[in-house]
Amino acid sequence: MNQVNKVKNIAVIGLGYVGLPLACLCAYKGMHVSGVDTDNNKVALIQKGVSPFMDQNLPKELMQSLTSINATTDIRGAVGKSEVIVVCVPTPVNNEHLPDLKSLKEACTGIAESIVNDSLVIIESTISPGTTEDVVLPILKKSGKKFFLAHCPERIDPGNLKYTIRNLPRVLAGIDDESTEKAFGFYKSIIDAEIMRLRSVKAAEATKIMENTFRDVNIAFVNEMAKSFDKAGIDITEVIKGASTKPFGFMPHYPGAGVGGHCIAVDPYYLISKAKQMGFSHDFLILARKINESMPDYVVQLLNRKLKSAGVDIRGAKVGILGIAYKPEVSDVRESPFFKVKSILAKKEAKLEVYDPYVKEYSTVSSMDEILEISDYLLLITGHKEFTDLEITKFREKKIKIIIDGRNCLDMEKIKELGIVYHGIGRN
Ligand SMILES: NC(=O)c1ccc[n+]([C@@H]2O[C@H](COP(=O)([O-])OP(=O)(O)OC[C@H]3O[C@@H](n4cnc5c(N)ncnc54)[C@H](O)[C@@H]3O)[C@@H](O)[C@H]2O)c1
Repeated sequence: MNQVNKVKNIAVIGLGYVGLPLACLCAYKGMHVSGVDTDNNKVALIQKGVSPFMDQNLPKELMQSLTSINATTDIRGAVGKSEVIVVCVPTPVNNEHLPDLKSLKEACTGIAESIVNDSLVIIESTISPGTTEDVVLPILKKSGKKFFLAHCPERIDPGNLKYTIRNLPRVLAGIDDESTEKAFGFYKSIIDAEIMRLRSVKAAEATKIMENTFRDVNIAFVNEMAKSFDKAGIDITEVIKGASTKPFGFMPHYPGAGVGGHCIAVDPYYLISKAKQMGFSHDFLILARKINESMPDYVVQLLNRKLKSAGVDIRGAKVGILGIAYKPEVSDVRESPFFKVKSILAKKEAKLEVYDPYVKEYSTVSSMDEILEISDYLLLITGHKEFTDLEITKFREKKIKIIIDGRNCLDMEKIKELGIVYHGIGRN
């Protein structure tokens, strides 16, 4: 059953990394798109046809559809004229690592107040199993209208040009068969990839959480291996290269200064919290989170150790931090290990400078040259191309003495040949 051809008006709630590409794709496919966001600045930019992101990874043709989106802060107006409403609002955790569903509840309340009969509501935000039926459904029912409801978790990987919103396979499930079929038909009309219907909404919700938790525990595993191999004098990058020659049963993950972003560093907590309510303790996931959250402290320890060996006090040491974003070539700083690293170094009273070509807001200098000029020691947090492509001899020209490579992305041998002290994560 494909009712998509009938979909003329769609509202996308939340125009972020997930919602904006979807809104553009729907506009590109000829739908009339209302894009709703609570951020006035974002709405104003989109109204002018300007992307609010520095790192927009939309294919060019989708980017052009930005001007076709009717961006607004008026959720009720947008929902009232839409047959399909897709919710892409943030689902972060609070300071106690508990799910914060404030945006989701607000969005659903706005939808309930203006939804028309027979509309389809799809939740794309990442949520714990049970949230669609236990949190979203009761709010929408207050509308007194007949509606369809489904969950289709988004898997988009900002910065990944191979897998985009157009060709990433999806899973989905509705609260009943009709909802499932309506949601299936809608995605079939916009996406050129497999769309799998699952038998329960909870399974769809859990799929996304399991995918991201899989990443988190594997990264924690390799971070622990890196710490261990560091003591043993074994280069972990060599070991990963070696293990990757096995054609089955091994999937490389890489150690680093910490896990960031709105997904991997957050989603395991949704499951940990939900399971706790049901009387199950996710010991393994809790340990993985603990290990990954220890990495910012670990990289500062590495720097401190090298400074001590050189007879330098960290207090007053001129340290340049390279990278703020949580991953290369994006401007997203959510949950980035940078913030912890910066705070630990600030407490130790190091003299800090920071540079990220994508994140002007927290950078203290405006170029690579500038940070190299005023730093003696470097701590790399993000493997941006600008850092990895730099001519290594520049480090010597600028008299850099120690480099802590938090992403193992610099040429260790060449740096050492130049007489600069190098330490990576699990390699030195
Ligand atoms: N960023 C990713 O890589 C990614 C990938 C897959 C899934 N997700 C999930 O998708 C969801 C959205 O993530 P994102 O990265 O796009 O977040 P984002 O912060 O980039 O965008 C969310 C947008 O929603 C807006 N918003 C907040 N409350 C609102 C409300 N009540 N009504 C309307 N707009 C509101 C915000 O202003 C923001 O612009 C989250 O659940 C996230 O876990 C994110």
